Amino acid sequence: MSAPLDDMYRDIIMDHFRSPRGRKQLPVVDFSSNGRNPSCGDELKLQVKLEDGIVKDIYIDCQGCAISIASGSMLAETVKGKSIAEAKRIAEVVKQMLKGENAELPNDLEDLDSLQGVRKFPVRIKCALLAWVTFMEGLEDYEHGHGEGNVTTEEDK
Ligand code: FES
Repeated sequence: MSAPLDDMYRDIIMDHFRSPRGRKQLPVVDFSSNGRNPSCGDELKLQVKLEDGIVKDIYIDCQGCAISIASGSMLAETVKGKSIAEAKRIAEVVKQMLKGENAELPNDLEDLDSLQGVRKFPVRIKCALLAWVTFMEGLEDYEHGHGEGNVTTEEDK
């Protein structure tokens, strides 16, 4: 990645870190999920309101580093208004991308591309994964009729 691109990506990440999206608590939620990054103990709480198969709103409270907060903010911005199927597909693509697998992001989600930079710092991959893994686990629990999910990024070493 060239230096100007690096700078651009850093700006995007810092913008999400400084003004995280999805910080408004929701009065009613359909599912919630708690995530934890075992390498540092940082935690993330996520709540989602669904309506007619769409992610109507999402709240994320991340007590973590800049990367985990920025990544959570990008998740909130990206999945809000998307169908459940589309939100799941995007989360899977981001997860694959962060793990260095061949994954192609949809063209209109260029901000998420900035997360690719963390692959150069393997210890930060779990930070970036935290929100996405928590979202996917919460959704899966919801679809299987389970209660609140608790996940860690342990399996994503
Ligand atoms: Fe804890 Fe990044 S250092 S989530």
